[in-house]
Amino acid sequence: MDDSISRSELVCSTVSCIISGVRLSQKFRKLFSFDVLQSFSEHVCRWTHPVNAQRFLDRLDPAAWRQLSKLYQPRPEALKINRFDDAAYWVTINVERAQDLWLDRSPPLRILDLGCGAGYFLYVCQSLGHEGLGLDTSREPLFHGTTALLNVRRIISRIDPGVPLPDLGEKFDLVTAHRVCFHRTERLGDHKWNEWTPADWKFFINDIRTRFLRLDGRLLLDFNPRRNGSSFFTPELRACFRSLGARIFRSKALLAADPSDRPRFKQKKR
Ligand SMILES: C[S@@+](CC[C@H](N)C(=O)[O-])C[C@H]1O[C@@H](n2cnc3c(N)ncnc32)[C@H](O)[C@@H]1O
Repeated sequence: MDDSISRSELVCSTVSCIISGVRLSQKFRKLFSFDVLQSFSEHVCRWTHPVNAQRFLDRLDPAAWRQLSKLYQPRPEALKINRFDDAAYWVTINVERAQDLWLDRSPPLRILDLGCGAGYFLYVCQSLGHEGLGLDTSREPLFHGTTALLNVRRIISRIDPGVPLPDLGEKFDLVTAHRVCFHRTERLGDHKWNEWTPADWKFFINDIRTRFLRLDGRLLLDFNPRRNGSSFFTPELRACFRSLGARIFRSKALLAADPSDRPRFKQKKR
């Protein structure tokens, strides 16, 4: 092989690597700054319409919560995010979730929370004048205690791919799922999971739209980031959710009952 050609090829490929690296980092910076901007806008909206989380905490009976924590002692090394007996932390987080959906400024709504866990989101919603129903498995004993103390009604059921949800006998203005986990079907080890395919998401969203949402109802799905810190929305999933009419905002997908509607986080006036 001619040495001069191979050297020039090497220079070319190095230059193209540098250029694509620069483009990638520019894209990453753009994405990052857009994300920061979106997060900032959420903060500003909450700040201009403050909700005092303390007044929801004051209604809880501290002795009953201490007893619950004693009964279901978390592992000492458990992360704050897994300490569901920590009402002060979770009520504050869920006040922010409610503010981001304008639930502090909307007429009373019927809300279904999928994978409702300890029940804090519905507790905050109920405290803001809405009516709530949760749905979760019965795997976590602590959640029996927290939902009872928070006066949150829930249905015990599993969400499985390609399986319609049980009939709940009513439709909702808002269906939510925060830190969605039900799409993970099988642990593969090394923090990897088998998860729902675009076809599974299509089935699930169609089921919610046709059987659980009122005409102007909305579905909010909020996802944890992936283990490596990247977004839940891979290019394939982003395209899938967009094709189903979702508005994607940071970790969230918001969908309207009518697939041709582009829903807004701001709640419509009735
Ligand atoms: C990470 S926790 C989030 C709890 C709550 N939504 C929150 O944000 O605080 C995920 C919840 O989804 C529930 N869950 C996981 N897989 C589920 C499934 N297949 N069907 C129904 N619920 C499920 C878990 O029991 C748990 O309560």
